[in-house]
Amino acid sequence: MGYPYSHDLEVGTQLSRHFGDEKARTLEGWKELGGYATLPKALEMDPDAITEVVKNSGLRGRGGAGFPTGVKWSFMPKEPNGAHYLCCNADESEPGAFKDREILRWVPHLLIEGCLIAARAIRAEHVYIYVRGEFFPFSAILRDAVVEAYEGGYVGENILGSGWSCDVTVHLGAGAYIAGEETGLMSSLMGGRAEPWIKPPFPAQSGAFGRPTTVNNVETLAAVPMIVEEGADWYRQWGTEKSPGTKLWCCSGHLERPGTYELPLGVNLRDVIYEVCGGAPNGKKIKAVIPGGSSTPMLTDAELDCSGCYEGMAEAGSALGTASPIVMNEDTNIVSAMRRIAQFYAHESCGQCVQCREGTSWTAKILHRIETGEGTAEDLDTLYHLCEQMTGRTICPLADSVVFPLLSSLDKFKDEYEALIKR
Ligand SMILES: Cc1cc2nc3c(=O)[nH]c(=O)nc-3n(C[C@H](O)[C@H](O)[C@H](O)COP(=O)(O)O)c2cc1C
Repeated sequence: MGYPYSHDLEVGTQLSRHFGDEKARTLEGWKELGGYATLPKALEMDPDAITEVVKNSGLRGRGGAGFPTGVKWSFMPKEPNGAHYLCCNADESEPGAFKDREILRWVPHLLIEGCLIAARAIRAEHVYIYVRGEFFPFSAILRDAVVEAYEGGYVGENILGSGWSCDVTVHLGAGAYIAGEETGLMSSLMGGRAEPWIKPPFPAQSGAFGRPTTVNNVETLAAVPMIVEEGADWYRQWGTEKSPGTKLWCCSGHLERPGTYELPLGVNLRDVIYEVCGGAPNGKKIKAVIPGGSSTPMLTDAELDCSGCYEGMAEAGSALGTASPIVMNEDTNIVSAMRRIAQFYAHESCGQCVQCREGTSWTAKILHRIETGEGTAEDLDTLYHLCEQMTGRTICPLADSVVFPLLSSLDKFKDEYEALIKR
């Protein structure tokens, strides 16, 4: 094949190594597999030294934006005069993304250990793991693991006799995409609707319950124990200078072997699609790929030779996002696919901003009109106008999430829109 599958990477502690192994779910089994070995080490380290290792490793947030994790942690006040919080973002609702749930259900203790080490680094006294509402079975597995971790002395009062205490709460959301946006998540956690707020204040100044808070993605936090254990240089042996490490890729759509694969960042996107995932079934050609989850610009098959990392995907005119390529074969009706995406975002808009509330739903309606042969040439102008109004003018970038794939589809597949309009 030429490329390692998740379990073939020559890494001792990589994220996906124990996926599929029931043993990893229990505290006893996890300890036998070498789990919770890094926490005692982290408890002896100065919090800023932990942040420094993570900063040097170059780990970038896996929730989509790719913000450097250690840098984010360093924004937290050093001298707490009250509570600090860590929120672990397990909302994972982006269409195409299905990696965090694998961590929750297969290696929950890895996530708990990562959360505790991060909490130690940012001087947090409480970790909230905010789990997407629909993830009921995964959250039950995680809850069992948290209970075991309390019983084992890894969470709670005086952790492992260190004098440091930290609680972990698993909070199940009500199933809203917008609850994955960090301020929406905290609004929901505090008992309100999952409505994002304008920044500033930034979470490190005033986040959950008005206290300094860091929000990190599940995959980001699960990578922390191995980085603290093995060091920044070890982690940098994979990936590129600006995007170090490995990443869970969620590959879906018209593929011979869809699935979640752990691959080094910087892997060639064409190789991910064709070598790792076997290309489209039945010898079909690939028409388009949305590489980073549904909110990123589409690429054509001819554009797939790009480096699968944050900077490489930006150079290719798209984004790595959550590294979740959605593959569409030659039979795909791009207008229908785009209409379906717009409908999703229209449904999930929290409605606070007019540009998003009205823009996403009108986009979906116009696309439906074009799809069903009722569209006019003016509709295309209206779509461009809507895109302009929906870009960068809202509290959070949910509206932009429609604009990115839509503009790229209009740019690359305009003939399909025009053909439906002429018909
Ligand atoms: C509309 C919207 C939805 C989002 N959904 C998620 C999500 O489900 N999970 C996630 O980790 N980040 C999500 N994010 C990104 C978060 O706001 C935040 O950047 C991330 O959790 C930070 O973690 P990281 O630095 O570890 O990536 C979303 C952002 C937006 C704008």
